[in-house]
Amino acid sequence: MDAASALDRASVREQDSGLADFSVASYVDPEQSTRLPIYRHRNELLYLVEKHGVVIVVGHTGCGKTTQIPQYLRNAGWASDGRQIVCTQPRRVAATSVAGRVASETRTKLGEEVGYAVRFEDCTHPVHTQLKYTTPGLLFRECMRDPLLTRYSVVMVDEAHERGVYTDLLVALLKKIRKMRPDLRIIVSSATMDAEAFARYFDPHYQGASTDTVAICSLEGRTYPVEIAYLANATPNYVDAAVDAAWNLHLTQPLGDILVFLTGQDEIQVAMQALHDRYSALPPGSLPMLLLPLYAGLPPSEQNGIFLQAPRGTRKVVLATNVAEASVTIDGIVYVVDTGFTKVKQLDVASNMDILSVVPASQAALAQRAGRAGRTAPGKCLRLFPQTQLAHLPKGPTPELVRCELAPYLLQLKALGIDNLARFEFVPPAPNPDAMASALTYLASLEALDDHGRLLPLGERLAEAPLDPMMARALLYSAQVGCSEEILTIAAMTSVSSPFTKFEYGPTMDVHAEVSRRKFATEEGDHLTLLNVYNAFVHPRVGQHSSKWAAKHALSYASLRRACAIRAQLAKYVTIHWSLPLCSSEDSVLIRKCLVAGLFKNAAQRMDDGRYESVHHHASLYAHPSSVLFTRAAPERWVIFQEVTQTTKPMMHDITVIDQSWLLELAPHYYQLQRSAKRF
Ligand code: CDP
Ligand code: MG
Repeated sequence: MDAASALDRASVREQDSGLADFSVASYVDPEQSTRLPIYRHRNELLYLVEKHGVVIVVGHTGCGKTTQIPQYLRNAGWASDGRQIVCTQPRRVAATSVAGRVASETRTKLGEEVGYAVRFEDCTHPVHTQLKYTTPGLLFRECMRDPLLTRYSVVMVDEAHERGVYTDLLVALLKKIRKMRPDLRIIVSSATMDAEAFARYFDPHYQGASTDTVAICSLEGRTYPVEIAYLANATPNYVDAAVDAAWNLHLTQPLGDILVFLTGQDEIQVAMQALHDRYSALPPGSLPMLLLPLYAGLPPSEQNGIFLQAPRGTRKVVLATNVAEASVTIDGIVYVVDTGFTKVKQLDVASNMDILSVVPASQAALAQRAGRAGRTAPGKCLRLFPQTQLAHLPKGPTPELVRCELAPYLLQLKALGIDNLARFEFVPPAPNPDAMASALTYLASLEALDDHGRLLPLGERLAEAPLDPMMARALLYSAQVGCSEEILTIAAMTSVSSPFTKFEYGPTMDVHAEVSRRKFATEEGDHLTLLNVYNAFVHPRVGQHSSKWAAKHALSYASLRRACAIRAQLAKYVTIHWSLPLCSSEDSVLIRKCLVAGLFKNAAQRMDDGRYESVHHHASLYAHPSSVLFTRAAPERWVIFQEVTQTTKPMMHDITVIDQSWLLELAPHYYQLQRSAKRF
């Protein structure tokens, strides 16, 4: 997943992009790139890359690192021997849109000389591609097939300061690979990170001056001053405060676009609606306002406006997640409204689950956001919290690796042949040993590792599959018991953003959407409901893959289309890599049992007060309002769920009703252990 994963609804659910289609259409004058601040550093940069194995590049956002460096390298011949230059972007949306931009700058067709590869989508040419943008997760996985990454002459790890799991793991692997491949060039780039710490990671002797191994290249960027204002008092509701702030800026400030930072798609929808509702109250003679959302799962049809200039005399107001913080640059922003929050995936130690939570953004992230206002002219940034709070915020983001569930990543490291994880050189700080130990225990209960932590054949299969190991196990099991067609569909549907687009937003709930959703709902829960939706969409006499049908039922056509594409890829994977025939069954017990075979760790029991209690440590959980089980209580008390997010309280998404006995039947290792250890 592409923390591949910015974290809208979607550390687990990956996010759709499609921006590339847009970027190709808009031709960019290549001359323009010579005016970027980075252009002056081109020769210095090329010299450093020639002389040193590792170059750490630091420069302001927008100075041209992502789009220009790979082009400079290519022009200098780094891709002339058939090998490629690859650049990783933590988010799919950035990888695809930047590739489109660079193809346009080089006047080539996307997918030829310049391409991208993201999970389930490869837009590269086997021979012609010289520059490839991809996600760190995908490149990390590629090491399973090609442990020394021999296809590449240069690997550029971009946005390293964000410290995403796969970025960190990739950097650590690259350090290992370099020992065997001194010809490989590594570039680690970012906007604000602690460059010296990275330099010391690659060469402990680094003391400020270049060593044989590593050099730092600092690119000064041109930015304009940004005036920063704070609220006098903390606000009880930052979404409302953001709406007020954007509205007031619009009424009082001269022309210039506004960028509002919120934490997720749901908040963006609420804020859009609120601004839209006020629109009729706009005083006569005011500027028209063009409202645009930007989040990682935005359907392609809605992405077009973001990079375009607003019509003359109109103010563009972009409501965005932290996607707009560094990886996607929007020109023309003069005002930034910053709620000061961000959504991250965090391991909840009590329940041993990853939970998506809204937390205060770090000082580095705030500085980065404010900087977005000063790219083309002096700007203003309004922070929706008191200035006194600033000192209490963390300096930089906590590395994802020290706060997330480690099991999927440790499994992949094992599959890469890294047996002794204690000796693996993680980019500091290394994950907590207790968290590592509990992840290894869980992997043993998945039967991915043996009791000594050695990789089992099943573990190898799970690690290689392009799915989270839990879903991969469900799929593998389903192929053996006769319903892989159904689990394929469920795996695809749970990895795209929810098809019930119009649904989730409580107070502004769309009645039509809810009525329509009930047509598909089953009392067994969300997974089977998603299966029904998909089956109806692809049915030759019902949905016929049509966008009209999707619209009529208030379903996201983009999500359904993408689910179809992912499903096809997964089906190919099952038949080719696992050599298993596809099979189908309508037996809902069988289908749910397969889900238990994968998701058994995420089990919970409904209490009399309507709450759920997780199997682990009896943490309190609640059904998310988007779940079909939010309003109905099935007679059975036990459920499994796909993921948990937390805003006010921890809420389960994609819930399925199960029979308690299935847990013991399908995950005996795990539940017998649990049972002997504690109440079950
Ligand atoms: O990576 P870095 O933040 O240093 O900059 P970049 O992404 O390479 O962007 C360089 C310039 O290209 C900026 O002025 C962007 O506004 C522009 N750009 C764009 O207009 N459209 C894109 N899809 C990507 C970049
Ligand atoms: Mg960049």
